[in-house]
Amino acid sequence: MKRVAIAPGDGIGPEVIPSALEILRYYHPEWEYIPVYLGYECWKRTGDALSDKTLETLRKADLILFGAITTPPDPKYHSVVLRIRKELDLYANLRPVFGEGFDILIVRENTEGLYSGIEWQEKDRACTLRVVSLEGSRRIARFASACAKRRRRHLTIGNKANVLKSDVYFLEICVEEAEKAGISIDKKYIDSLVLDVLQHPSRYDVIVTTNIFGDILSDAAAFLEGGLGMLPSANIGRHQALFEPVHGSAPDIAGKGIANPIAAIRCVSLLLKYVGEKPRALAVERAIQKTIADGIKTPDLGGTATTDDVGRAVLRNLQAE
Ligand code: NAI
Ligand code: MG
Repeated sequence: MKRVAIAPGDGIGPEVIPSALEILRYYHPEWEYIPVYLGYECWKRTGDALSDKTLETLRKADLILFGAITTPPDPKYHSVVLRIRKELDLYANLRPVFGEGFDILIVRENTEGLYSGIEWQEKDRACTLRVVSLEGSRRIARFASACAKRRRRHLTIGNKANVLKSDVYFLEICVEEAEKAGISIDKKYIDSLVLDVLQHPSRYDVIVTTNIFGDILSDAAAFLEGGLGMLPSANIGRHQALFEPVHGSAPDIAGKGIANPIAAIRCVSLLLKYVGEKPRALAVERAIQKTIADGIKTPDLGGTATTDDVGRAVLRNLQAE
């Protein structure tokens, strides 16, 4: 029995989450599903994007399925996703990217770095503090090394140690943990790494990096899979995990019913894997592949199907397994 909080959020979040939820309910009708209201629309309506009560509900959940939220560039508004990751201490952000001939796992540090939230404005400049702590780096390095150990035993450490002293520190800790795990490593500067991942994806197994670099790298890597509508992510803490598509609320297509739900459905696949149901996770992936092969695709993939068409097709393929 699991308690699953469902937070669709803003924009296309509430359009893609129902498709994902239906598949989760198909496997686990007995779990408790708790709808949660948060985000920018919630802020406009209630003055609070994430109330203490909502945060408490999220804290008590074993699993969280999250859509996307709009973050306006308003200095008074603080990102809800960042706050949740921090408050629940979901320190490892996993973003798998795989396809023909490549299988990469990007492990992004999720609680500090440039997104530590320590920022201030002065008369003639604005500052953001980049924090790289021993404990924060060690646990993400350990996590990534453990992942690599179960995979092809190779870890690439994305960094900018040629410029940033905080990355010299991060790098040292990662090397130490990788050595303890007995896996091979590569150190790569993040700027050239982004290009190389796109050009030679088969060279990579697990990539570990700090918060903002992981954010940028994983969005760029979405190119390998046909766009942002395809990529899921898992935010893992010590006792709970939150699953969300890599994409945002996509205001340009929101309300049209044409958002690609595959990233959200793949979140369910990651969730099932997280709770130890790997065969089901793989079945979801096969059902997605068959849907695409049958040409049931949303416009971002060159098709004419709606969000619900794709969601229904994936579910049908699962039922037919
Ligand atoms: P975005 O990911 O929302 O959209 C970028 C582009 O990709 C758009 O052209 C959009 O139509 C397309 N796209 C994204 N997901 C798609 C899907 N499932 N199917 C088809 N096309 C899709 O990123 P953008 O435009 O930079 O940000 C929009 C809003 O989302 C902003 O307020 C931003 O702060 C927020 N955001 C929230 C995130 C989250 O909730 N974790 C992550 C990234 C952005
Ligand atoms: Mg991003």
